[in-house]
Amino acid sequence: MDDAIKVRYSRLADEACCLSCGGAMEKSGASAGEVCVDLGSGRGTDVLRLAAAVGNGGFVYGIDATPGMVEKGRSAARKLGVENVSFIHGELEEIPLGSGSVNLVISNCVINHIAAKDALWKEVFRILRKGGRFVVSDIYSVYPVPSEYSSDPEAVAECWAGAVTRDEYLGMLRDAGFDCIEILEESMPYRKGKIEACSFTVRGYKNST
Ligand SMILES: C[S@@+](CC[C@H](N)C(=O)[O-])C[C@H]1O[C@@H](n2cnc3c(N)ncnc32)[C@H](O)[C@@H]1O
Repeated sequence: MDDAIKVRYSRLADEACCLSCGGAMEKSGASAGEVCVDLGSGRGTDVLRLAAAVGNGGFVYGIDATPGMVEKGRSAARKLGVENVSFIHGELEEIPLGSGSVNLVISNCVINHIAAKDALWKEVFRILRKGGRFVVSDIYSVYPVPSEYSSDPEAVAECWAGAVTRDEYLGMLRDAGFDCIEILEESMPYRKGKIEACSFTVRGYKNST
């Protein structure tokens, strides 16, 4: 993770502002007994909500590269007595989970930050079990982001300059091997930083048939 992203999220770990851009958790369809992971779990709110949905027979991992965020999640789980969760400090470019180990991957407003997005999606495919799914909320850029912004770490940390176009996004999902790719919600274009962006929630399956 780039230093600009780490600095931004170390500060935001102690604030109450919303860091999400869609309803990945609400649309995940998490059910009892499932093993789930939230990529870029931030303060851990969605991990705790997933933990309630999967119950004691299921388990939820939250992974984040900002130590302050990981600590927030662990402390919330301790306070609430939630035991079927684990918050892992780690980078998403190399997800610290075994192959075929989870039923469901969610993520909310994180993947736009990742430089190696194609590698990230291959990692998501690797950790999912056959028939498993991802439900991810993120932003895309209506037009390609000019390189003066996409190469600026501060602008990427602000959740807009790292965005790719909708076609590029969906192409990466297909290239990673996912099928039954479906957009579950999508906003109208809005101004974000120096670009026109849309928020969306997308789902895809690993070997659905
Ligand atoms: C916009 S916040 C979203 C947090 C949470 N998903 C939510 O909806 O509240 C982005 C999160 O992604 C994490 N992050 C960014 N790049 C990362 C990377 N390469 N590896 C792991 N975590 C990363 C940040 O530390 C931050 O907590």
